[in-house]
Amino acid sequence: MRCTLFFSGLAATALAAEPFLNEPDTGLETFLHQTNNWTEGTQPALKDMRGLNDFDFAARQKLSTENYFYYRTGSAGEWSYRNNLDIWQKVKFRPRFLTDTTKVNKTLGVTILGYNFTSPVFISPAPRAQYGNERGELNYVEASADEDTLYVAAMYAQKTIEEIAAAKSNTTINGPQVIFQQVLPMLVYLKYYSTNSPQIYSNANLSVTWDNIARAERTGAKAIVWTIDAPADAVRHRAARFDTTNANSATSSLTWDLYDQMKNRTSLPIIPKGIASVEDAQEAVRRGVKAIYISNHGGRQLDHSPSPLEIAYEIYRNAPEVFKQVEVLADSGVRYGSDVLKLMALGVKAVGLGRPFLYANCYGRDGVQKAIQIMKKEIAQDAAQVGIADLRKIGPSVINARELDETVYIEEK
Ligand SMILES: Cc1cc2nc3c(=O)[nH]c(=O)nc-3n(C[C@H](O)[C@H](O)[C@H](O)COP(=O)(O)O)c2cc1C
Ligand SMILES: *[C@@H]1O[C@H](CO)[C@@H](O)[C@H](O)[C@H]1NC(C)=O
Ligand SMILES: *[C@@H]1O[C@H](CO)[C@@H](O)[C@H](O)[C@H]1NC(C)=O
Ligand SMILES: *[C@@H]1O[C@H](CO)[C@@H](O)[C@H](O)[C@H]1NC(C)=O
Ligand SMILES: *[C@@H]1O[C@H](CO)[C@@H](O)[C@H](O)[C@H]1NC(C)=O
Ligand SMILES: *[C@@H]1O[C@H](CO)[C@@H](O)[C@H](O)[C@H]1NC(C)=O
Ligand SMILES: *[C@@H]1O[C@H](CO)[C@@H](O)[C@H](O)[C@H]1NC(C)=O
Repeated sequence: MRCTLFFSGLAATALAAEPFLNEPDTGLETFLHQTNNWTEGTQPALKDMRGLNDFDFAARQKLSTENYFYYRTGSAGEWSYRNNLDIWQKVKFRPRFLTDTTKVNKTLGVTILGYNFTSPVFISPAPRAQYGNERGELNYVEASADEDTLYVAAMYAQKTIEEIAAAKSNTTINGPQVIFQQVLPMLVYLKYYSTNSPQIYSNANLSVTWDNIARAERTGAKAIVWTIDAPADAVRHRAARFDTTNANSATSSLTWDLYDQMKNRTSLPIIPKGIASVEDAQEAVRRGVKAIYISNHGGRQLDHSPSPLEIAYEIYRNAPEVFKQVEVLADSGVRYGSDVLKLMALGVKAVGLGRPFLYANCYGRDGVQKAIQIMKKEIAQDAAQVGIADLRKIGPSVINARELDETVYIEEK
């Protein structure tokens, strides 16, 4: 199941020749062969997971091809999927040395919509966690509580909104656990989602959406995360092989008017997820949102949609005030602490990961927890390397993102 992947930033002629490994080779397989007499198809030990990409390798050993493909799929030729992973190379750090960074690991905490968490990393909404472990999303809830991070629960999770809420901790170090609830009002045929979900669900009849919002409120979710970047069925060849794409070929009439209707129905803040342009970010600000969520859905919706780094940079270059006006969350293709730092340098407040946690859940709750811990540690280590003494004060001066000027839209003044 090895994929070929290329490295961006090389001359076009070199592109075709450069093999791209889904995970850059950092010696995991060599190590397993030598020390564990490892054979293909055997899940390595959790202790041997050193970076988030290791979990992708490990998940491939455990999951059926069908289930792995469902997690792993990108849209069409998966160019956006690969770009999400590659693009980080275009932005370099500008390390400053001889700064005392011994306390940086005490400055990882963030406040999102008034709720405190001990790190800027969170779990993005991605359903079917049960493929990796039968406890499904309960592992997400518990690991998030232990690590005091935000969990954004997916609407079509295997566990119901109520089951997820019941698993929340009342005693994280920042008090009762905070969860945000994702919703996705669209015309969608839910054959492949959990048996707990309604089967047919349409825009013409939003009662299911209103019901889900009411349930989220009732069970104490603190915000609604509204997926705006799935207005149609996605072109997903990898998933289509097993017929596990998410919808029929319907399109839906998601509009800002629906946002106004939703706002009328709930006192919870509604965070639009999937903001991919400066114009939509500004429109969201005009509509009075408190936070926006930059994402290209992990490259699963529209091939050649931009990565979160490019989107954040587009906003930064054209309307930097957006980062002050609203809180900005982001995800897609984040795999290392350094990726998180680059987004934060541009003004992003917190960063989500989707697939890595699905893969880590193949080790159950401990795997999810270890994945969060790895990210926290990498963020602190890399921040120190860059010379950041206090992560809360990170700014654009720690990166050189000029290379993105060639690819990112910049409004002509
Ligand atoms: C298997 C899978 C299912 C997903 N389902 C949803 C969904 O129902 N709603 C949504 O807003 N995003 C969904 N996403 C997107 C994630 O919330 C997130 O944007 C994406 O996974 C981030 O990219 P990453 O996987 O590279 O970290 C899904 C992602 C995956 C991998
Ligand atoms: C390594 O694994 C193979 C296949 O499982 C087995 O035949 C062999 O005996 C093992 N070698 C050692 C040194 O354990
Ligand atoms: C934080 O960093 C300090 C200094 O480098 C180190 O002594 C301490 O163990 C670290 N704490 C955590 C929780 O990683
Ligand atoms: C959240 O963190 C801020 C800044 O560290 C602090 O002032 C505030 O009291 C905290 N709020 C809660 C509810 O703990
Ligand atoms: C948390 O508190 C609520 C309400 O007091 C209670 O119903 C729930 O069982 C508690 N959860 C846990 C995990 O203890
Ligand atoms: C809307 O959907 C709900 C839930 O499936 C159903 O009970 C209701 O009858 C539907 N209303 C209309 C007008 O179709
Ligand atoms: C919101 O509610 C107000 C008051 O009930 C109503 O006048 C308005 O039309 C509603 N707006 C939308 C978009 O539903």
